[in-house]
Order: sequence, then C-alpha cells, then structure tokens
Amino acid sequence: MTTHLPDGSTLAFGAATAAYQIEGAHTEDGRGPSIWDTFAAKPGATRDGRDGSVACDSYHRFEEDLDLVAGMNAGWYRFSVAWPRIIPAGTGAVETRGLDYYDRLVDAALARGVQPTATLYHWDLPQALEDRGGWLERSTTEAFADYAMVVHDRLGDRVKVWATHNEPWCAAYLGYAAGIHAPGRKEGGAGHRAAHHLNLAHGLAAARLHEAGVTDLGIVHNLAPFWPETPEAAGAASELDAVRNRIWLDPLVDGVYDDELLRVAPELADPSLVRDGDLALVHGSADWLGVNYYTPFRPTLADPTLDVHPEIEAYPGVTPVSFVVREPRTDIGWEVDGSGLEQLLVDTHKRTGLPIMVTENGAAYPDDTLVQSAAGRPGSMMVDDQDRIGYLRDHIVATEAARAAGADVRGYIVWTLLDNFEWAEGYTKTFGVVHIDPQDLTRTPKASYHWLAGHIGSVSP
Ligand code: NOJ
Repeated sequence: MTTHLPDGSTLAFGAATAAYQIEGAHTEDGRGPSIWDTFAAKPGATRDGRDGSVACDSYHRFEEDLDLVAGMNAGWYRFSVAWPRIIPAGTGAVETRGLDYYDRLVDAALARGVQPTATLYHWDLPQALEDRGGWLERSTTEAFADYAMVVHDRLGDRVKVWATHNEPWCAAYLGYAAGIHAPGRKEGGAGHRAAHHLNLAHGLAAARLHEAGVTDLGIVHNLAPFWPETPEAAGAASELDAVRNRIWLDPLVDGVYDDELLRVAPELADPSLVRDGDLALVHGSADWLGVNYYTPFRPTLADPTLDVHPEIEAYPGVTPVSFVVREPRTDIGWEVDGSGLEQLLVDTHKRTGLPIMVTENGAAYPDDTLVQSAAGRPGSMMVDDQDRIGYLRDHIVATEAARAAGADVRGYIVWTLLDNFEWAEGYTKTFGVVHIDPQDLTRTPKASYHWLAGHIGSVSP
C-alpha cells in the first residue's frame, strides 16, 4: 500500500498549529460560532479574559506563516481544519468559502515544498452541535464523519496524511468533566461518555475516509507516562493509565475496553452507550499514530499539601491522587523530562505496532523580550529563548533514542510555530518558536526558531 508518511530513514521535522489558536477572523466568510467562542466569552473562563477572535490573524497571514515554516527547513506543516468554517451549523449546509481558505493554505504549503497534514478536530465543535448535546450525543459522531468527508472531497487530492482528532482526552475530560475547557461542563462520568463518542466518531470517519482511498489516516493522542512516586500509588497509576492511554489504544489495537477501565469508568459498560459494533469499528482503524508529549506524571496517593489537579475530579472512579512535580518546570508548571518521551515512544510502538509521529512537543517560557539577534540576520530582533532550545534539544535527542531502540518514529513536529491562544491560559503562556507582537501581530523568529532551522538543515538529507 502506498504511504505518504515520512519514510523514517531520518527523522522528519515539522511545525504544528491549530485553527482556533491562530486563525482569528472568527466571523469571516460565513464561519459559525464554536464552543470555544462561547466558552471564552464567559467571565473567568480564560486567564486573561481573551479569546481567539483575532489570535494571530493567520487567516489573513498564512502566506507569511508558511514562509516561516519553510524558512525553518521544516518539511511538514500540521494544521487543523475548523469545522465551523466548513459546516457552520455542524450539520447541513457547506460553506464553500471556508473550504476555499484551506484550499489556498494547502496550495501555499505545497508551493513551498512543505507537506500539509490536516487534523479534522482540534476542539472547535460547532456551537449548534453542543446545543444538541455535543460529544455526549451519539448523533455528533455521524455529523463528524459527514464533515470529514466534505473536507476530504475538497483537499484529498493534495492532503495525503490525515488525523481525525487531536487529543480527544482533552475534549472529553477537560470539556465535559473538569469543565476547564469548552464547553465547560462539570459532569463527573460525562467525560467517559464523551470519550466513547470521540472514539466512535474516529471509527466512523476512518471507515469512510479509507473507503475514499485514504491510506494514511491517524489519530493524535496526548498519551502520558505515569510514574508512581511511591509504591502505594502503583494501583492508582495503572488506573490513570487506563483512562488516559488505554481508553484510546485498546479499542484501536484490540477492539476492547479492558476490565480495569470498565471498573473505574462504569459508564463504558452501559450497552446503550457502547453499542454492538462500536469498538469493532475502531479496531485497526489507524494507519499511524500521533503522540503529543510534554511531561511525565508522578502520582502519589492524595496529599492535601499538594495542589489538587483539576482533572482528578474528572474521574470519579479513579483512586484520588496528587501529582508530584519535580524541577525543572516550564512556565505552565510542567516538569521537564525527555526520558518520558523516549519511554512513551518505545512502549507505544510496542503496544500498537503503528508508525508514530511526535505530532506535538514544545515548551512554554515567559520569553517576550525582544533583543538584538546574534545568530539571526544582522540587525534583526529575536527572543533569546535558550530555555526552549534546551527543552527541544533534549526531546529531539529522546526521539532519536527511541528510534535507536527500535520504535518506528517517523517525525518530530514542534508545538508550536507561533505564540498563540493557549486555551484556558489565554495568551499568558507562550509555546511559539516565533514571537507575536501583542499589538500589531508582527512575527519575530526566536533563537529557538534559528536553532531548529540549523538543526534540521544539518540532519536532513
Ligand atoms: C496540546 C494541544 O493540542 C495544543 O492545542 C496546546 O496548545 C498544547 N498542547 C500546549 O498546551
């Protein structure tokens, strides 16, 4: 079977973004409202009270952004398609101006020798679907598959590597159980119900996309290593592994939810939710797997001296834990440990046998000070983000180590090209290798961008 994935002879490099985080233009060309427009408008929902209505204005500046991708020597651009631009009411009428935008984007990438890879769902559910129950409703899964086909019909002649969902764990648990992401619902076991529908939506879309000739269909998960801090936390770590990792990988690889998962997430044993044939549809439905990695987790039995992690209340059935976070940490408080990525890649490849792309990895640092560039163009400005360079270097080394240990990892895609809308954190946490001026949105490559360009240039054939 033809594959359009990188061949794996060397590690391929790319840069990632997501529609709601960078596009702005939230009412332009017929785009409908998404759950993130609605959620971000609620007082207190985002740390700085801001939303994605303007973001990086990439809707108008995508040519410049793709120049930056190409200038970094990256061979891949991972972007997401905004469902509310394509089918503004979630189902029914198609907005061709939305499709035209992605058409231009894809052509602009290819014209620069950059392969576009599209993610169909990066959390911007059309609000009209949420009004009918969102991911708690089975009908949303059919709507997703219909939308996927509309996008594929327009872009499939040029986009060859597809992902259905990005981090469905966040969409399910942060959105419907912890309430810290859109749609902001805090409904205990609802996270598990949403998770099943996200699995099913992937399965339905995958079947139709494969039938339409797609050979490189994947899904992107934020899988996480859980390292028990104390021997007593080993059981809890295994339960967390069930709700964070196995809930996605077991249906893909074996077509099941395992017993431990069913014990901590009894919703998944409800035959009106998980119907006959659902898991069979997910079984074997991916040609590749995207892994997003930022940090390992060190659970310890619930400790009142440690902060309660917001997501813990998302799993009423899991043994209560706290997380120990060691130094060093990034600006968002996540521990830095590249060995977690190496282990995760090796284990995930063993578990799934699938080709893997590291579809996101990167770090937030408070680096908004522009200085005169030493390494960049003479006279140009940059942010001297040595901390981010260190993080990226360690994690690229970890990725190469996983490859050397036999894991079939084809690519490393940095999160993210541009400082952008970081969901509930608003614009307060910056992950970009390119700085965005908050006033006029001028793009200024950081030292990490120049470092990446040099690294990729030196290792690419
Ligand atoms: C994962 C998400 O896919 C992305 O949207 C987010 O900005 C990064 N992680 C950093 O939190």
